[in-house]
Amino acid sequence: MAIERTLAILKPDCVRKELVGEVIRRIQRAGFKILALRMLRMSKREAEGFYAVHDGRPFFEELTTFMSSGACVPIVLEKEDAVSDFRELIGATNPDDAADGTIRKEFADSVGENIVHGSDSTDNGRLEAAYFFPEHEIVANR
Ligand code: CMP
Repeated sequence: MAIERTLAILKPDCVRKELVGEVIRRIQRAGFKILALRMLRMSKREAEGFYAVHDGRPFFEELTTFMSSGACVPIVLEKEDAVSDFRELIGATNPDDAADGTIRKEFADSVGENIVHGSDSTDNGRLEAAYFFPEHEIVANR
């Protein structure tokens, strides 16, 4: 067990559905500390940069168009085992496969519009946090 950071993004569908408060409440109730948070709208190019690892996949165009379609809320989170615990909290990428009680099961419409992103490793958590926040904006919150 180690204290880890992960990057969450409340996606444009989460903002449009006015679920920002509800999703943050669930994240905090699950024991995650918020170290940084902002609201912004990514350009298409910024979304392509963030998801560069998926470049070439059939859903890349749809994904980056959606992620740049409106405001989103990136959040740096800290917790013991943050990466795996956050993925458990949000549920499987495809809401049809997500476990009952998870955020995606409850609120997501489709694999593309699935409310929230979570980093898939501690290395990616660090890289993804740096995509949105300089280190001095990631605040120890105890
Ligand atoms: P996310 O955790 O943000 O990481 C990559 C995203 O790609 C993923 O959530 C999904 O929203 C999206 N994605 C994965 N597979 C598909 C797909 N088949 N069609 C559309 N989007 C997808």
